[in-house]
Amino acid sequence: MRLPAELLDAIQRVTDKVDRRKLAQATAQITEHYQAADFSAPAITTEAHRAAYLTVRLPATYAAIRHVFSEIRRHSADVEVCSLLDLGAGPGTALFAAAEEFPALAQATLIEADEHWITLGKLLTAESSLPFAPNIQWLKQDLRSGLSCQPHDLLIISYALGELPQPAAEALIRKAWNSAQKFLVIIEPGTRRGFATINAARTTLITNAATLFAPCPHHVACPMALAGDWCHFSQRVERTAQHRQLKGGALGYEDEKFSYVVACKDGVKPAGARIVRHPGKHSGHVQLTLCTPAGRLENKTVTRSSKTLYKQARKAEWGDLWKGDLWNDVGADVLSTARPDVTE
Ligand SMILES: C[S@@+](CC[C@H](N)C(=O)[O-])C[C@H]1O[C@@H](n2cnc3c(N)ncnc32)[C@H](O)[C@@H]1O
Repeated sequence: MRLPAELLDAIQRVTDKVDRRKLAQATAQITEHYQAADFSAPAITTEAHRAAYLTVRLPATYAAIRHVFSEIRRHSADVEVCSLLDLGAGPGTALFAAAEEFPALAQATLIEADEHWITLGKLLTAESSLPFAPNIQWLKQDLRSGLSCQPHDLLIISYALGELPQPAAEALIRKAWNSAQKFLVIIEPGTRRGFATINAARTTLITNAATLFAPCPHHVACPMALAGDWCHFSQRVERTAQHRQLKGGALGYEDEKFSYVVACKDGVKPAGARIVRHPGKHSGHVQLTLCTPAGRLENKTVTRSSKTLYKQARKAEWGDLWKGDLWNDVGADVLSTARPDVTE
């Protein structure tokens, strides 16, 4: 996956204005900050930090957001997303991803506490050819003191919830859920900490009678969490030459790990189990680790003799929905059983 060309060009124009040495220092500082996941003080405070974020973090958060949006589009093709509300929008990453995935998108509201991000986001959108550019509204609001906005079809909180104290995060999720007409998306880094934030958000959503759309195929307690593991997915994203230079990496891509949850109104939950690990594709058989509608983790082996399913399994990727109802088959290797302590 790569950023749209015009967004890459706009980012390049922003970063060209920043001294190379300062940009390299700022990249090291924000990388260290995000690795430490210490949000007691803001990570991004200077022009160089913002330019570094646009170069080395935005492509990855964009890729994770598009992965999740494409999951919504794939499994609810008949639901139109016409409006977007982004909470903790930064430079407007989710807006650019939504514009690629939802052709009916006609209006967007972006809420952000930092006015420098708002200025930069306005610049990036002004330089884009988004057809609904006049209907993009930026609002300066601190999400810790509540949320004041109109309902929108799709709400997103990407890589921002973990920066809020737990009580504020919980209150925000409740308000966001009330303001979502169709979907609420929450994404965090695919670390233990990021997953813990997502799992807590998931519990809040279930307590508020939300229907989970993805990745969970059930509403009982997360079997990954019960097993002491963390549910996360991965999206490959191209690195620009400048990105490689700043991060000192030789590879032309990186794999962004992320955890997420999507809740939907109208109960349009897709049916199937979720593939929660890289499928093991071997000669004559494919091994899948599934999170099943029963709320269990199960290992499945699909052999060449199962013709159609085998074809599906060869194409299956980590994070996909697995529609075969194999989890009822004899021979399932149950890895864990969910306790029904969180129910619909
Ligand atoms: C890591 S950035 C993520 C930006 C964007 N959502 C993305 O996915 O690339 C986190 C953003 O959340 C914003 N943020 C953090 N706490 C906030 C708060 N209390 N109110 C509003 N925005 C906040 C930060 O200013 C920052 O722009």
